[in-house]
Amino acid sequence: MMENNRNSFTGSIGFILAAAGSAVGLGNIWRFPYLAARDGGGLFLFVYLILAVTFGFTLLTTEIAIGRKTKQSPLTAYGYLKKEWKCVGVISCLVPMMILPYYCVIGGWVIKYFIVFLTGSGIQSTSEGYFSSFITGESDPFIMMILFLLITVMIVVLGVKNGIEKFSELIMPLLVVLIMIISVYSLTLSYKDENGVLRTGLQGLKVLCVPDFSNITFSVLAKTVMDAMGQLFYSLSIAMGIMITYGSYMKDTTALEKSVTKIEIFDTAIAFLAGVMIIPSVYVFMGYEGMEASGPELMFVSLPMVFKQMGRWGGLVGGLFFAMVLFAAVTSSVSILEAIVSSLMDRYGMSRNKAAIVEGAMALIIGTVVCLGYNRLYFEFELPNGASGQILDIMDYISNNILMPIGSMCTCILAGWVLKPGMFVDEITKNGEVFKRKNLYIVMLKFIAPIMLMIIFIKAVGIIR
Ligand code: PHE
Repeated sequence: MMENNRNSFTGSIGFILAAAGSAVGLGNIWRFPYLAARDGGGLFLFVYLILAVTFGFTLLTTEIAIGRKTKQSPLTAYGYLKKEWKCVGVISCLVPMMILPYYCVIGGWVIKYFIVFLTGSGIQSTSEGYFSSFITGESDPFIMMILFLLITVMIVVLGVKNGIEKFSELIMPLLVVLIMIISVYSLTLSYKDENGVLRTGLQGLKVLCVPDFSNITFSVLAKTVMDAMGQLFYSLSIAMGIMITYGSYMKDTTALEKSVTKIEIFDTAIAFLAGVMIIPSVYVFMGYEGMEASGPELMFVSLPMVFKQMGRWGGLVGGLFFAMVLFAAVTSSVSILEAIVSSLMDRYGMSRNKAAIVEGAMALIIGTVVCLGYNRLYFEFELPNGASGQILDIMDYISNNILMPIGSMCTCILAGWVLKPGMFVDEITKNGEVFKRKNLYIVMLKFIAPIMLMIIFIKAVGIIR
């Protein structure tokens, strides 16, 4: 009964665009380019690609297969597969509940910058202190967060076909066009600095693409692999309950392996294009020092300064850039809310509207606390991995570095050892598809992926640095 009533995507395109929409997010835009430039350019890209078709492929395939097989939400799917493993479902639902509120806060920052550039005041306001004075303000970040959350809730309320699928089909092609326009523009830039040194966009592209073997040692290589692995894990929206949810809406006739390949190509191509868009322009106007900024710094401080330097085109390019980031962020936040909503619907029999409102209200409360973390509740906290941060960073740390690797490790052990890979191979080949990477999948699932996840976890909790 439940299965017949369950929502589903219309077909494989809808599924692929929605899943790619989830995967392509802030991680692709602000984290990937920075890691690639820092970790030896082409070397990072190469390592990342290899990991994507092995490690990423295995985890993504497993989560989608769990969803499609059980037709259940993350909260209920694990217990459905094996009663004693119910608690992994709880982790899988807790992760999106932790991420949603702070993702909305950052989404709010993006809306703010989008509006600022759209109204033309962006160029004047991009002084160095602008970002910190904005996020420490009492009302603006809060209002923007509510706006972002409202957009997310509205799309989810519209449902899987009419909300998520339609929105992704509209937004994803637009995102690709925008990112291509800005990337090409970024390659045409050139600038002569105070010392008369000319820097061009194409030189910047080299920083991103050409491997730097000059001081490569074992520890450099190990660090590159670790960075690529962590980035890939987050970038593919793994261990957030999302891919189980979307998998549960996937039709049995859709080719699973082929869809996974397409999602990966989409995600990696956008991450690479984000690199082409950001690295050359930051390099041209700020040189190597400009590239040291990471995370929010890079997007909300360095890039706006780059747009300022672009002169009369800067306002327009900045506006398009933040529109693009906003699209990427909304399709991700929609997926994370949907993971929670589907859990509440499956577990407690709530209606879609009620579930979306309940979770929306909760995200609003926690999001408010996150906003207050920059003013009234401000404190500096040192995290076990050596980084310091505020409430937002603590929530990000607990979800990304602790809960996600644990959840994913449990998933591998359940699928590879308790239930056995054969069950998943059957699910993947159910529509008659030949599973090309079957042997690779089994070896990765049983042995290599859990070990890699264990290493990510050990490193994240600071046992090794
Ligand atoms: N894959 C997303 C990214 O790269 C991560 C994410 C998805 C975060 C959904 C939150 C919600 O940014």
